[in-house]
Amino acid sequence: MSSAVTSVPYLDLTTEFSQLQEEWLEAIRATGQSGAFILGPNVKAFEAEIASYVGVKHAVSVANGTDALVLSLRALGIGPGDEVITSPYTFYATSEAVNVVGATPVFADIFPDNYTLDPASVKSLVTNKTKAIIPVHIFGCPTNMTEIQKIADDHNLAIVEDCAQAFAASVGDKKVGSLGDAGCFSFYPTKVLGCYGDGGIITTDRDDVAEHLLRLRNHGATAPFMHSEVGYNSRLDEIQAAVLRIKLRTIDDAVAGRQAVASAYAERLAGKVLALPEQPGWGGHAYNLYTVRLKDRDACRQRLADNQIGSSLCYPKPLHLQEVYSGLNYQPGSLPVAEHASTEALSLPIYPGMPESHIDRVCEVLFQG
Ligand SMILES: Cc1ncc(COP(=O)(O)O)c(C=O)c1O
Repeated sequence: MSSAVTSVPYLDLTTEFSQLQEEWLEAIRATGQSGAFILGPNVKAFEAEIASYVGVKHAVSVANGTDALVLSLRALGIGPGDEVITSPYTFYATSEAVNVVGATPVFADIFPDNYTLDPASVKSLVTNKTKAIIPVHIFGCPTNMTEIQKIADDHNLAIVEDCAQAFAASVGDKKVGSLGDAGCFSFYPTKVLGCYGDGGIITTDRDDVAEHLLRLRNHGATAPFMHSEVGYNSRLDEIQAAVLRIKLRTIDDAVAGRQAVASAYAERLAGKVLALPEQPGWGGHAYNLYTVRLKDRDACRQRLADNQIGSSLCYPKPLHLQEVYSGLNYQPGSLPVAEHASTEALSLPIYPGMPESHIDRVCEVLFQG
């Protein structure tokens, strides 16, 4: 007789929805009754709450995290002929945004244990065409922003933080999103702070950038039916803003929940995997993903799948070697740390409130081979 199988989802969004649904449905009802569906009171209040949480003067919401990056680059005047240095070890949206504004991404290598940009590699790639750096706080891990800032200061470069996976992560006593010219967040449902659809926001201390972003997200309009430049229709939905406001109230508990799962994994996996995710000395990790390195990664992943345990390959092919960038002529071996990571990294299930029995089960199956 076979024993009951404990299946473990990669993440569980439905339990949280069940807990929030009454409040959210009430907010939808109130929105419907008000008739204010676009750029209404929830969006305005949410922007103020995010600015306060991140510790900046302005927060401008947009339709998704990709648009947050695109509009930020546009607002900073980056376009054709410019180079932007970023990570090859991220979701494609990061470098795609650089291409969307007509600039060229230049990929720097990463640190092996926390997957964030290695400032020494960034520094070696600065040319007279470089206009910006996009550090990616990948998996929830903050980048070494002190070193990135030094490079930006020395060469007069803008910094656009990609905070899509790192809501609530910090560097020293500052939150990510407050450390550059613009901080770009995604509220895709799987993120640390996720909505029930698509959403994004840009945080900035710069009045000029905020003012430009407000125009860009609304068709480049300076006043109703008056347009000064080509913009976008990129606005956060009032109903998504409502759920985000509800979730923001308890975000610190949610992040503490992720950190508790990360500690439980670390206790069980220390010394048994090639590398645990590093908690860097310069900041606090938000653990959007829990990514370990394994010698026989693909076999481990298959074994997890055979036992109904979710996992994700973040990331199987670094961006500089993707077909879309074949024209940039990167060769295998050009960014060895990122390339090596792509053969060993596996992201395990993590979400606030993940039961301890599920953490045990993941670890048990991982080492059954
Ligand atoms: C690092 C990173 N940057 C940007 C994005 C784009 O965000 P969105 O999916 O909201 O457009 C994502 C989302 O997956 C991401 O992980």
